[in-house]
Amino acid sequence: MTTDLLSPLSATFPDPFARLATQPADALLGLIALHRADPRPDKIDLGVGVFRDDAGRTPVMRAVKAAETWLAETQDSKSYLGAEGDAAYTEALAAIIFGARRAVDRLTGVQTPGGTGALRLGAELLARADGAARVWIGTPTWPNHGPIFAEAGLEVRSHRFFDPAAAAIDFAAMIDDLADARAGDILLLHGCCHNPTGSSFTPDQWHALADLCAVRGLIPFVDLAYQGLGDGLADDATATRMIFDALPTALLAYSCDKNFGLYRDRVGALWVQSASAATADPVRSNMLTLARSLWSMPPDHGAALVRIILESEFLRTEWEAELDTMRSRINGLRQALAAADPRLTSIAGQRGMFAMLPLSPAAITALREGHGIYMAPNGRINIAGLRTDTIRAFADALLPHLEGTR
Ligand code: LMR
Repeated sequence: MTTDLLSPLSATFPDPFARLATQPADALLGLIALHRADPRPDKIDLGVGVFRDDAGRTPVMRAVKAAETWLAETQDSKSYLGAEGDAAYTEALAAIIFGARRAVDRLTGVQTPGGTGALRLGAELLARADGAARVWIGTPTWPNHGPIFAEAGLEVRSHRFFDPAAAAIDFAAMIDDLADARAGDILLLHGCCHNPTGSSFTPDQWHALADLCAVRGLIPFVDLAYQGLGDGLADDATATRMIFDALPTALLAYSCDKNFGLYRDRVGALWVQSASAATADPVRSNMLTLARSLWSMPPDHGAALVRIILESEFLRTEWEAELDTMRSRINGLRQALAAADPRLTSIAGQRGMFAMLPLSPAAITALREGHGIYMAPNGRINIAGLRTDTIRAFADALLPHLEGTR
């Protein structure tokens, strides 16, 4: 029996929510539910970006399991740590990202809930510092990038980045579009393993971007969410290090979701390099007050695991070996897929979890409905979702739909 609990006041009481429009569901996260509800045993999930082994599992990494056992045995308090989170975690991570050459007196790092938390905290800090700054984001990008900056109140501008017809970065078009950027604007850059295209700038292009930022006064905001899954831990940080060396001011959002497999534990960090030691203090205090109002304090568990792994020689060696295996698997799958058709050859040279396939929206729907193949609506596939025993079936279903001449 239902009881009508409608208050007698409801006819006259203000309803602020009546002004809200229903929002479209997140397309990437929606794929998780769609795939789960599909009963076909041979369905292939190439949707959301999680690493999978050749049996299709996303296992907890061995180093993480060992760190969890150690944490459970030794942790003697769950009392608050504060808005900056676990400072030893941030310090240990900084060492693998920036190496020894850090501008320690100008670089402030705080732990955040995932890479999204880092991007949002950076966006809020930038909006508070200069609300007139615009954020330049390449097309295509991770669909959450635009909303994160827009919700912080910053104007988001797009620049061209990837040419689907050439399956390559259109660097000239990117530079052309950035001619409209003003001093103080922010340039969002994927540090490695571009999501969704897998395409990387050449070292010369990275240097040209650093020069452009220096000459035009643009502030680089690097998003590094896949360190170790492209060419290796140090190689994947090379561009970030160069940018932080070359520019006085820079921001870095970091995620441990993929390289530590800690997705649901929400483990990230934000670093802000300020132009002088004098501005480091206000930067830090604003980061902390913003964090306090956003989430008060970041969740501890995953960050504690990362700290334990990075501080233990044994666990760190184990983690790096697991990461090497993950990267080799992804790059091996890239080679195999690229060999399936000349229109896919660029996939071999791309890096990270993702590639964009030249497919129409109708083809993406047909692959899902007809073959149980799930991918993002823009044709992005998670390479790690492929398996040795499904790659042939995937290629057979895919090839008739591929755009472009053979
Ligand atoms: C992805 O791009 O699939 C992942 O980063 C998951 C997400 O949050 O969108």
